[in-house]
Amino acid sequence: MQPATGKSSEEAAAGLRERVRRLEPWYHTLDLGQGVVTRGMFDLRPFVDRYGLPQVSGKRVLDVGTFDGFWAFELERRGAVVTSLDLDRIQQLDWPPRLRPAEDGGRGETFRLAREALGSSVERVGCSIYDATPERLGGVFDLVFCGSVLIHLRDPMLALERMARLCSGRLILAEEYSRLLAAFKFVRGAEFRGDSPWSTWWIPTVATWLRMVHTAGFEDVRRHSRFNMSFRAQRGGVPHVVVHARGTAA
Ligand SMILES: C[S@@+](CC[C@H](N)C(=O)[O-])C[C@H]1O[C@@H](n2cnc3c(N)ncnc32)[C@H](O)[C@@H]1O
Repeated sequence: MQPATGKSSEEAAAGLRERVRRLEPWYHTLDLGQGVVTRGMFDLRPFVDRYGLPQVSGKRVLDVGTFDGFWAFELERRGAVVTSLDLDRIQQLDWPPRLRPAEDGGRGETFRLAREALGSSVERVGCSIYDATPERLGGVFDLVFCGSVLIHLRDPMLALERMARLCSGRLILAEEYSRLLAAFKFVRGAEFRGDSPWSTWWIPTVATWLRMVHTAGFEDVRRHSRFNMSFRAQRGGVPHVVVHARGTAA
């Protein structure tokens, strides 16, 4: 069948492919349909099972730090009503002073193109997790999902506190953990990486992540899984822990 514009489906796919190319590099590998797949820095598709997503059909879900939107679109595909949160400007990121780029620029264009291509209804709110409140986001959420955001924040505890106020159901948090400190089982600690070129601030141990989530106000905090996420040539991948917890916000 021809699209309403009268373009052939090959022309439409070529048009989409070109728009995708112009926005490279992409963070997420996303299958946008019409045979167009973005070449992301991370292909999360093989790891979805590690996160333990619950039934979300009809549930209100918040995706914190959505980037190109992989998790927002995945959760929407499973029937959730999804709000995704991210920053609108490069300068809003928690840059360590020495690494802060001189210029600014917009964020969210890749998300908007993917949303359009997928015919998605996910609402992207340009807001820092530091400023996210139930008042601002229209209430609390059945599921708060946060993947690989806190290691990039100067104040991950403040972000977790904000998530606790927003979460009336489940929290799913997936973050890198420290292999280096893994031997010190009873020491709660984190590597300081504020001078790394990846704008990463902290790499806590698994035990530290669990304590942080509990300290922020969540209950029934537990490790759901651990796995290595493949990333370019990094040997052994990036170690990730998935934490589940129960939110008590009303
Ligand atoms: C490493 S990416 C993770 C993307 C995605 N959540 C995932 O699991 O693949 C981190 C994302 O968090 C966003 N981010 C950074 N600081 C933030 C903040 N203060 N509030 C909301 N999002 C933030 C970044 O813009 C980026 O999109």
